[in-house]
Amino acid sequence: MQCTRKVTDGIYWVGANDRRLAKFENMFPIPRGVSYNSYVILDGKTALMDTADSSVAERFMENVAAVLDGRALDYLVVQHMEPDHCANIAAIIEKYPDVTVVGNAKTMQMIGQFYSGTKAKQTLLVKEGDKLPLGEHELTFVTAPMVHWPEVMVSYESKEKILFSADAFGTFGALNGALFDDEIFFDAIWMEDARRYYTNIVGKYGPQVQALLKKAAGIEIDMICPLHGPVWRSDLDLLLEKYDQWSRYEAEEDGVLLVYGSMYGNTENAVEVLAAEMVEQGMKNIKVYDASVTDCSYLIAEAFRYSRILVAAPTYNAGLFAPVEHFLNDMKALNLQNKKIALVENGSWAPMAGKHMKAIVETMKNMEIVEPVLTLKSAIQPAQKEDVKKLVEELLK
Ligand code: FEO
Repeated sequence: MQCTRKVTDGIYWVGANDRRLAKFENMFPIPRGVSYNSYVILDGKTALMDTADSSVAERFMENVAAVLDGRALDYLVVQHMEPDHCANIAAIIEKYPDVTVVGNAKTMQMIGQFYSGTKAKQTLLVKEGDKLPLGEHELTFVTAPMVHWPEVMVSYESKEKILFSADAFGTFGALNGALFDDEIFFDAIWMEDARRYYTNIVGKYGPQVQALLKKAAGIEIDMICPLHGPVWRSDLDLLLEKYDQWSRYEAEEDGVLLVYGSMYGNTENAVEVLAAEMVEQGMKNIKVYDASVTDCSYLIAEAFRYSRILVAAPTYNAGLFAPVEHFLNDMKALNLQNKKIALVENGSWAPMAGKHMKAIVETMKNMEIVEPVLTLKSAIQPAQKEDVKKLVEELLK
């Protein structure tokens, strides 16, 4: 049976949830699932705002038909061409052959690339600022390149003051009956998923997100309808402020993230000693993670969150222990910046991890490396107590 929600008079959520998918984009674990949001606008003309992932195709198509209730679909607005939102374009065209597909030049190019052979009878090419009147409702298209792909555009509906925001302001986490932010308790668990979603998916594109936020600041917005997660109608500032912070690469909290790799527990032991010393020196906001155990997407979210980072790793093949190398390279790829970072290397005969870690961190923007790198020879020694104290003092300074 269809499962839809009314957003406002004339606008309906027709999306669906996926709690089976293990990894979003086949990379990021989503133990709480994910929603693929899509919306139908009913007016003099009807419009569908994006489609949904192929995994929920049956439910999605049923939802669209239920809301249209026998009416024709006039427009399919394609805001984003990542397949979690556009996988049903062909199915929509087949079911509603007179539909006009609305997108920009890049959208149309990507439809051809992903779905060659998919051809709508009519297409409407739009660009920044173009309007699409539907009756009382009117959409204005605003380009948002690289939030999260180059073709992305968002749409502002002026009657209800709704921003259809594409991936922006989305979050991991399936919707459990509730649709609006005031119907769910947006607690730390939701925020952690929102942060992990943003930092891993869009984290690289801070300046582009800032550009979108500037455009959004110039318009009156009562509601944000993203493609994932809840619709925001009550506490819009909660996520807007976080997006502003994340996209400026500004830490949310003064605290220390400790990430380590450890083959036999000796590097781990050193990190435990360092964490205890941090608490002794007054820092209570500390998180410790084993890079071999915790998926990197969680580490990335925490790296955005905290002001200070300590990374400890064994030397491996004269290089860097792979899970830690992955974490550092991911931080670099996502343009993480503005952190104070301490490094601890381990090596029983030729410690090299510190050199390799530094080589990565030094290419990142505005990263203050605490000198010197603390070197362990197989295990931390009682004689290194003073070095530990000094490293922590420097990191917390
Ligand atoms: Fe949810 Fe970039 O797609």
